[in-house]
Amino acid sequence: MSAPVLELDAVRFDYVAGPPWARRRVPALHGVSLAAGRGETVGLVGESGSGKSTIGKLCLGLLRPQQGAVRFDGAPLDRRAQRGRFAVVLQHPQWSLDPRLTVAASIEEPLAISGTGTKASRRAQVEQMLAEVGLDRDFADRYPAELSGGQRQRASVARALITEPRFVLFDEAVSALDVSIQSQILNLIRRLQRQHGFAALFISHDLAATRYAADRIVVMRGGEIVDEGTAASFYEPSTHPYTRALQRASEI
Ligand SMILES: Nc1ncnc2c1ncn2[C@@H]1O[C@H](COP(=O)(O)OP(=O)(O)OP(=O)(O)O)[C@@H](O)[C@H]1O
Ligand SMILES: [Mg+2]
Repeated sequence: MSAPVLELDAVRFDYVAGPPWARRRVPALHGVSLAAGRGETVGLVGESGSGKSTIGKLCLGLLRPQQGAVRFDGAPLDRRAQRGRFAVVLQHPQWSLDPRLTVAASIEEPLAISGTGTKASRRAQVEQMLAEVGLDRDFADRYPAELSGGQRQRASVARALITEPRFVLFDEAVSALDVSIQSQILNLIRRLQRQHGFAALFISHDLAATRYAADRIVVMRGGEIVDEGTAASFYEPSTHPYTRALQRASEI
């Protein structure tokens, strides 16, 4: 495999919680190592509270590990220096789409912030991105409230990819959508990844969606990796009891 785009190396992370006079440490990750290469999607599954989103925040540089390292293209992650080189798609599109901005303005914003191109060239990029995510041109001047949930998530994906990031984090990106829309968005993500070649981390509590989206899957429990393998291997009944329980839950 080529050098990883994003790499967690023996990362330990504890949150600090409680009021100043009664601070306590909440251990969240105990020595987690994983890597995603160019054009590769790593799926991260596990029960609520297992540490998935904490890994996501470390990958975006929003949190720093107390031990171990997070590397981006082989160098220590620096959120400022690497602005525009990574992006995120969250569960609820309203978290990335400003209700007061048109769809086009929201998608353009990351380019405008970094001062890329001219107003006209940015508009052309936005229109191309809209086409890539399967939204008609007349969605450009609509507001998020005038879109369906699936259309809004397409717009969020367009906003995430507009700066041609090298790494994209999907944190429960399809979890709020109904099943038929979920598969449309999963297909869209796969197609765009083939086209653009970004590395991705696909976080979900849903093993079925993750098997479909990812090349490799890492299973988390209680802040540790308890199982991992190719996505294809997760279609076979696992010998690992916790993975087996996740498989049973996804068959319902
Ligand atoms: N800001 C915080 N302060 C203190 N503890 C936190 C904080 N955020 C998360 N935690 C704790 O860290 C652990 C991991 O949380 P995390 O959000 O990474 O889980 P998750 O796997 O994403 O869960 P979910 O599937 O519910 O989103 C949990 O025990 C959680 O309670
Ligand atoms: Mg989470």
